[in-house]
Amino acid sequence: TDRSLTDGFGRVHRDLRVSLTDKCSLRCTYCMPEDAGPFMPKDQLLSAAEIERLVRIAVDHGITGVRLTGGEPLLRQDLEDIVARLAGIELSDAAGGGRLPVAMTTNGITLDRRLPALHEAGLSRVNISIDTLQPEKFHQLTRRDRHADVLAGIAAARDAGLRPLKLNAVAMRGVNDDELADLVAFAVSQDAQMRFIEQMPLDAGHTWKRDNLVSGEEILARLAERFDLAEVPGRGSSPAALYTVDGGPHTVGVIASVSKPFCGDCDRLRLTADGQMRNCLFAREETDLRTLLWDSASDADLAAAMKISVGAKKAGHGIDDPDFVQPGRGMNAIGG
Ligand code: GTP
Ligand code: 5AD
Ligand code: SF4
Repeated sequence: TDRSLTDGFGRVHRDLRVSLTDKCSLRCTYCMPEDAGPFMPKDQLLSAAEIERLVRIAVDHGITGVRLTGGEPLLRQDLEDIVARLAGIELSDAAGGGRLPVAMTTNGITLDRRLPALHEAGLSRVNISIDTLQPEKFHQLTRRDRHADVLAGIAAARDAGLRPLKLNAVAMRGVNDDELADLVAFAVSQDAQMRFIEQMPLDAGHTWKRDNLVSGEEILARLAERFDLAEVPGRGSSPAALYTVDGGPHTVGVIASVSKPFCGDCDRLRLTADGQMRNCLFAREETDLRTLLWDSASDADLAAAMKISVGAKKAGHGIDDPDFVQPGRGMNAIGG
């Protein structure tokens, strides 16, 4: 029997993004409202053991890497335990053997304090969000005065030697579109890869407008004023198109989810903090794995539910469809 998680369009799913909480230490305008909440009650979240069980089953069905997201994963007190459990999972020989790579997407706040234990637990990589180099602008954009904490997190990741280290910025008109090249220069100084993300209609306020989009093309034009860029071939299923900066070795990435969707190569599945499987960021429906878990479902039952979720995946996000509706949950509850 075919154990792979393959959808109706032949896309094989190898990457699982696990959201650990919908809470966050920031309130970025493109993600959460100022008066965010109510948040998921703690007793509705999957436990470390439940997450481990679902990931084991997913790995048994072809998943070869996990990424922890949120909300902000560092707000989970048991993050070190979760990382240790997941990083202990063995990949099959068919998948190349070795241990399951466990990465994390984070805003970096408190990462400096927690990185030693996370590294010890087996965390392989981190991607850190930093939308601006200007503390005052950071405060406005995130509604929290914590720019210095983010810089400390980036420095910690750099010094711990986690590579590749990636920095993410959502490109926003009138906010940070004047400092894209500065962000690249900063990333290079941290031995990191800067990536710019087109803003997607996932904000809790549902205020996204296409006219406001800073497109990947525009981002590249801005960067080309300061740097020599050359596209790196062989992108595979990665959301980012990569370009060498002034001949390399450092690269910059552009994630053009809106203007140049990469859904045709998507290999990603998502698990929300409250145990719902989502086959897409923009999925209208979720598959309730938590109820199955709590009803003592077998591994086979859980795998069958995962296959149903994958089988129902749409061809693409449909942002351009006339009847497009933004998902009910905000990005913080879906998992970044
Ligand atoms: P790497 O393995 O390091 O390449 O990670 P990643 O780029 O998959 O993960 P990360 O969390 O850093 O993603 C950065 C941004 O890319 C996210 O915040 C999203 O904006 C976007 N992104 C990631 N996955 C998807 C996806 O499946 N679909 C779309 N449309 N955007 C995505
Ligand atoms: N559009 C694109 N990216 C987003 N993120 C959050 N909200 C959005 C959005 N509306 C990204 C942030 C961060 C990750 C957690 O999610 O840049 O890197
Ligand atoms: Fe995959 Fe959905 Fe993202 Fe497209 S929008 S790449 S289908 S998760």
